[in-house]
Amino acid sequence: MCGIVGYTGPREAYPIVLKGLKRLEYRGYDSSGVALLNAGLKVYKKKGKVADLEEHLIGKDLHSNTGIGHTRWATHGEPSDRNAHPHISPTGKLAMIHNGIIENYALIKKELISKGYSFSSDTDTEVLLFFIEDIQINNHCSLEEAVRIALKRVVGAYCILLIDQNDPETIIAARKGSPLVIGIGKGEHFLASDASPIIEYTKEVVYVNDYELAIVRPDELILKNLGNEKVTPYITKLDMELAAIEKGGYDHFMIKEIHEQPSTIQDCLRGRIDAQAGTITMAGVEQNIDKLTNAKRIIMVACGTSWHAGLVAEYIIEELCRIPVEVEYASEFRYRNPIIQEGDVIIAISQSGETADTIVALENAKEKGAFIFGVVNAVGSSIARLSHAGAYTHAGPEIGVASTKAFTGQLTVLTMVALKIAKAKETITNEKYLTLLQELEAVPEKVAVILQQAEQIKSIATLFDKAGDALFLGRGYNFPVALEGALKLKEISYIHAEGYPAAEMKHGPIALVTETLPVVFIATKDSYHEKIVSNMQEIKARKGIVISIITEGDAISPTLSNATFSIPAADEIIAPMLSVIPLQLLSYYVGIAKGFDVDKPRNLAKSVTVE
Ligand code: AGP
Ligand code: GLU
Repeated sequence: MCGIVGYTGPREAYPIVLKGLKRLEYRGYDSSGVALLNAGLKVYKKKGKVADLEEHLIGKDLHSNTGIGHTRWATHGEPSDRNAHPHISPTGKLAMIHNGIIENYALIKKELISKGYSFSSDTDTEVLLFFIEDIQINNHCSLEEAVRIALKRVVGAYCILLIDQNDPETIIAARKGSPLVIGIGKGEHFLASDASPIIEYTKEVVYVNDYELAIVRPDELILKNLGNEKVTPYITKLDMELAAIEKGGYDHFMIKEIHEQPSTIQDCLRGRIDAQAGTITMAGVEQNIDKLTNAKRIIMVACGTSWHAGLVAEYIIEELCRIPVEVEYASEFRYRNPIIQEGDVIIAISQSGETADTIVALENAKEKGAFIFGVVNAVGSSIARLSHAGAYTHAGPEIGVASTKAFTGQLTVLTMVALKIAKAKETITNEKYLTLLQELEAVPEKVAVILQQAEQIKSIATLFDKAGDALFLGRGYNFPVALEGALKLKEISYIHAEGYPAAEMKHGPIALVTETLPVVFIATKDSYHEKIVSNMQEIKARKGIVISIITEGDAISPTLSNATFSIPAADEIIAPMLSVIPLQLLSYYVGIAKGFDVDKPRNLAKSVTVE
């Protein structure tokens, strides 16, 4: 994720680009920068928010009629001035910004280094830019042709804007997998990641498609495919208001991020998993595989939703890797003087990478000699830097306070880590390994299927209209999902909800059951299914309101439920990535029905950087 803006026309480019970046800052805010064309190429970029860049540029020569700007969400190379976009080519004549991930950048970088190139950043973007200019010089071709040749070699996702000081009115753009909108003005054109920077200037836009390349000048827009064939631009009229567009047309960031999960899980898998080849590529695991396979104990350290991801991982790692796992609340772990032994591995889980309790817990553990593997969403964050190794979840910025897409990203990474350890330890058969790889690859599509039925959850949400309390029950891999569903409902609708192992009900909590108590069962088809159906009967017998998340084709649970929601079948190890989706939707629709601010729930903050 990141924000991209471009302008070419009669107006001053900088104010338009800067304002556009501010509208896109929700897409990423690690660093930002602009490149301006006017009697040469000027590039200004800085770590931090767009406001920091704006302050940095006061007094600079910013006159230009053609410019591009970028607000970054780092994927390769931590947030810093040198990793900020725009990047500059070796000759200093080209500047480029990029949204996406170039999966095969390392190979291309190696080839370019062998040709004598040296890089000033750690980003994949800079490699692509150098590659383009190298092609242009060695093939003696146009910049446009060089872009086409380079992009045919590239594996991954991109939206790029490229400017050349030898062609001061032109912006070359191309996209695959990352969005690009071009606004059609009178003698001017606007380019951006979404329509929010464009809508105040024009409502006529062209949504560029994958594998298309655009040559944009003030009074000309040429679209071509990578085969250099012209494509007729399809102009549509924007009918949304600005505020709606920043949320991609959704009412709230939370529901937008819930619906992003097919692509964010795909982004998390991208460049790592290949079910056909039977491989998972994760440098952080490979480089430390001995420590991980020989671990005497794995300790998960996290808070909140991330702690629930750690609990799911406990079941998966113990089942697949046969390594003892403990799951610790960071806030407890940091104070109770825990015993850390030689051979212990700590897996730190955090969306923000800035949670104070988790940071201090890790610092204490590090002092005691623990090896720390970080599963983090925010690249270059404190926890990422504190960790000896790690793997990013690549979920993009999570704006909604309730963690949704980051959680499924954490489960995706943790499942891949468990599979790599189990394969190395040979604690699972090759058949089981390949089956789970295929199951993982199928998750984005299954999540998309679930989201297509999101409206069904709206009606289920009405069962909570008068609820003051709620219970979420699950067994095995779905027990942590019950905890997560309860947390989501608490923090978004302010209903007191508890998650429990379903079998634990008879040890006290069943006393709570009345005709007004909604009890949500996560009852997908797995090795516990018969048992959880019995637990459902126990609640039904006491006239509790039974709501069950079930596997398609389950004929028993509906007979015991006031309402059911079916999800696609999946191996029980993979099921939590699917069974959590309806619970995210449930908390959202209950919160909306109560008229609450679901993006900014009372008393909460997105990142708890205080203890
Ligand atoms: C989850 O919806 C909450 N926002 C909260 O529990 C969160 O998971 C917790 O604060 C941990 O945050 P982190 O993942 O950024 O460390
Ligand atoms: N992969 C590029 C980087 O890490 C672009 C990331 C983005 O989309 O912001 O700089």
